[in-house]
Amino acid sequence: MPTPDLPLATERLELRPFQPSDLSDLHAYFADPAAHRYLYSEAPADLDGTRKVLARRQQRTALREKGDAIHLAAVLRNTDHVIGDVLLMWTSPEHRQGEIGYLLHSDHRGQGYATEAAQAVLELAFERFDLHRVVGRLDARNTASARVLERLGMRREAHLRENEFVKGEWTDEVVYATLAREWRARRPAAVPVRPGPTGTTDR
Ligand SMILES: CC(C)(COP(=O)(O)OP(=O)(O)OC[C@H]1O[C@@H](n2cnc3c(N)ncnc32)[C@H](O)[C@@H]1OP(=O)(O)O)[C@@H](O)C(=O)NCCC(=O)NCCS
Repeated sequence: MPTPDLPLATERLELRPFQPSDLSDLHAYFADPAAHRYLYSEAPADLDGTRKVLARRQQRTALREKGDAIHLAAVLRNTDHVIGDVLLMWTSPEHRQGEIGYLLHSDHRGQGYATEAAQAVLELAFERFDLHRVVGRLDARNTASARVLERLGMRREAHLRENEFVKGEWTDEVVYATLAREWRARRPAAVPVRPGPTGTTDR
């Protein structure tokens, strides 16, 4: 895959690779147990746990093989703080498929930041990486996440009954998807996404 031009800039956010100085910002939202309610992950027990999570995120800056991800910190431009993150995973090189994910600090929800960040990542997926199809997978109870995917114009394709056993219970999974041609057809004329001023990463 080509190297992505990072950071990405949206109207209110800069999306850039994680860096060591993000530890306290990441801890502020990732250590919130409620944020993990519908995720496979658990909140780290302490700052050392978050440090390991950060180290993993810092490595996720390029798509080289199946399962790789680009995991970007969402920096709120007027505060310079990381308020969440957004992810694009390369789930199938053969079928040119990807998956998006996102997580926001609870103080910054309800303002469209997740949708804005995810829109930029879909643009990256289709226009830079030439993916054919991108999905969002979620616990069926995660209605806030479903609304993000719907705002992006993604199609609800499946509701899988009790197909996963997560955190001690059977859970329903919902799958949303969009194709490159569908994305291009409904994309606003001026998508507010452009490479940021500092150019590319070297990975
Ligand atoms: C999923 C998650 C990121 C959604 O956060 P969110 O704040 O609801 O999503 P957005 O940032 O896109 O904000 C959308 C909300 O802001 C409102 N909003 C305000 N200004 C807006 C704007 N300029 N543009 C879009 N929406 C705006 C929308 O109406 C919407 O509210 P509603 O859902 O009540 O209708 C958040 O709940 C979260 O971090 N959850 C924990 C992690 C998680 O579950 N991730 C998903 C895994 S599948």
